[in-house]
Amino acid sequence: MNLPRVKLAALPTPIEALPALSAYLGGPQLLVKRDDLTGLGGGGNKVRKLELLIAEAQANGVKQLITTGAAQSNHCRQTAAAAARVGYSCHLVLVRYPGGSQGGNLLLDDLFGAEITWCEQEERDTVLKQVFDSEWQAGKRPYLIPYGGSSPTGAAAYVLAFDELISQGLSPDAIVFPSSSGGTQAGLVLGARKHGNRVRIIGISVDEPGESLQEKVANLANDASERLLLGEEIKPGEVQVEDGYLGGGYGVVSNLERDAIRLFARQEGLLLDPVYTGRAAGALIDMIRKGVFKAGEQVLFWHTGGIPAIFASQYADSLI
Ligand SMILES: Cc1ncc(COP(=O)(O)O)c(C=O)c1O
Repeated sequence: MNLPRVKLAALPTPIEALPALSAYLGGPQLLVKRDDLTGLGGGGNKVRKLELLIAEAQANGVKQLITTGAAQSNHCRQTAAAAARVGYSCHLVLVRYPGGSQGGNLLLDDLFGAEITWCEQEERDTVLKQVFDSEWQAGKRPYLIPYGGSSPTGAAAYVLAFDELISQGLSPDAIVFPSSSGGTQAGLVLGARKHGNRVRIIGISVDEPGESLQEKVANLANDASERLLLGEEIKPGEVQVEDGYLGGGYGVVSNLERDAIRLFARQEGLLLDPVYTGRAAGALIDMIRKGVFKAGEQVLFWHTGGIPAIFASQYADSLI
């Protein structure tokens, strides 16, 4: 089924070999899928989701996008850029970082013209509803993009991304990437099922115990399957999540992320972000060292973006 889609991303994103890193780690052959290069507003995985989500919004005569996330949310930054691209206004509800946050994605939110309402974590849903209601009453015709862009429609974008991978002629043994709101993983799992492809799709949880993330991903995949008329059913037990790398919690940078970011940068000139891809790469390195992958295997690291966060005041010092 062809879902309505607004062209926002530079696709297909390249797939590159990582020969120096593969040799350094002495494990499987490593490749990277560059979704950090989706283009719009600094790139990242949400641009793919927004192509479908904005098409859905346009069909409803919407004129404003509202969404929510952390102070340094990549999702919010990409939503703000997408709104600017299609001529909508954008209102972001961001969770305040203790001590404040500056630069990075926040600077870009401002450049893209987004209005920001700050809130505390526990009042987020209430504030989001208040913002939506007051924008609605003001006649702004708002559309609520769900957290992380992970509605069934957003997840469907990663079914299309899996189609793209297949069309690039690749069939890796495993795909490793950060998983949080679950849309990316749901789409990839469903995409693999659609193609009858047995690749191991390993989501590295950045902020949630494995069991609840498995359930979230399976639910999203099943709803996306319905949306795409695929007739597939994914069970939570069929979703592979690694939750052994949560460390100090969401966005807490430790040696795992710092060492991975520095290693990818020095071996391959490739940038990762401190919250998502840095943690997933740290997990990948640890799994290689523990022998999870065989030497002859091909492992694709799906780079989901997030690089602007490196330049945020709350992270920059912890990377040195
Ligand atoms: C850079 C980056 N990687 C991965 C993710 C997680 O993707 P998903 O929310 O689809 O699980 C996010 C979500 O914000 C992100 O910003």
